[in-house]
Amino acid sequence: MTGETPRELTIEEIKDLEEKYGEAALRAKKAGFDMVEILASTGYLVSEFLSPVTNKRTDMYGGPLENRMRFLLEIVETVRKKVGSDFPISCRVSIDELMEGGNTVKEGKKIVQALENAGVNVINSYAGWHESPRPLITMHVSRGEFVYLAEEVKKVVKIPVIAAIRINNPFLAEEIIASGKADFVCMGRPLIADPELPKKALEGKVEDIRPCIACNQGCLDRVFTGLSVECCVNAAAGREAEAKIEPTSKPKKVVVVGGGGVGCGVAEFLAQKGKNVTIVEMLEKLARDVGITTRWIVLLRLRQKNVKIVTKAKLKKIVENGVIVAKNGEEEFFEADSVVIAVGFKPNNQLAQQLEGKIPELYTVGDCVEPRKALEAIHEGFGVALKI
Ligand SMILES: Cc1cc2nc3c(=O)[nH]c(=O)nc-3n(C[C@H](O)[C@H](O)[C@H](O)COP(=O)(O)O)c2cc1C
Ligand code: SF4
Repeated sequence: MTGETPRELTIEEIKDLEEKYGEAALRAKKAGFDMVEILASTGYLVSEFLSPVTNKRTDMYGGPLENRMRFLLEIVETVRKKVGSDFPISCRVSIDELMEGGNTVKEGKKIVQALENAGVNVINSYAGWHESPRPLITMHVSRGEFVYLAEEVKKVVKIPVIAAIRINNPFLAEEIIASGKADFVCMGRPLIADPELPKKALEGKVEDIRPCIACNQGCLDRVFTGLSVECCVNAAAGREAEAKIEPTSKPKKVVVVGGGGVGCGVAEFLAQKGKNVTIVEMLEKLARDVGITTRWIVLLRLRQKNVKIVTKAKLKKIVENGVIVAKNGEEEFFEADSVVIAVGFKPNNQLAQQLEGKIPELYTVGDCVEPRKALEAIHEGFGVALKI
């Protein structure tokens, strides 16, 4: 994956690395963590020892599975010595490497049994390597697709087992645990998309959870190109310290001009921050550009956050301390410290105009025709792709 060709480690290097695992675990304990997890999955160093795909050694660390597990088991031993007997150790294992010639569930089960015997307290069951020739964590993977691996592990160990990958909502998590297929679930990206997911689930505010859509755009795609973690559905991800949404002690008055989906979203966000928000909308109804199944929840949230809604009102003028609107043939004034203009979009079709007549075939799709939603843009693009 990195493009580097690994070389065989010397015995001294192996021993040194084992020691470093132990030191790292102790640092984590001292830093206040409640558990450490040894990563023996995904094609990283330990799994390169475990797998016949990559382990070509001929010494005591290579050959049969018993030898290939030696590095991992010695790491567990070192970590245990460092963190003490009462500190939980988890181990993440690719139960099926999903690699040609690699370990499958059969070997995966032997590895977790050996880990249990070595004193590991929890198994985090994982699937595949980064190099596996099939999707593992993209949108193509259905939710809970790899729970069956946890189920397989549970058949051979008594310690708790964690199911992982694409478990992005509390209902699915509950179902997995209630079914006995796993004892815990592991959530990665769902907690980037909404760090408050567990709290919201506990409080029964499930409809407030922002679900991870497994797009990988903000998180993994960025991390693998050396950038920091962000998120498509959570603009505050990676900027938590500067982007805290806390109620203000001096609520300001804000008028949002335009009650489409964007205006409503902005209004909700500002109201959540404690501002007194008024939406001024020219049409009779708000959020007409939002789909029928989502619109009602957008309106409900505005009501819940006490956003004042003024419809059939057209902005005439922004003055120093507010806005003047025309409603029912009369002028009305709304006080405001700030005004947000969210009055829609205009298409930018300059490029199409410039190309007109200069090339044999010209098609326009998406927002340059008319700003709308992803569905229309995708279908227009598809229609053009069929024609050309
Ligand atoms: C930004 C980011 C970094 C990750 N780094 C690691 C890692 O170092 N080791 C690892 O085992 N998994 C790593 N993962 C994978 C997650 O632990 C998780 O297993 C994966 O995202 C699939 O589960 P999810 O659908 O709950 O996110 C990372 C995931 C993300 C999004
Ligand atoms: S960017 Fe956000 S929504 Fe997309 S996969 Fe990552 S965490 Fe999920």
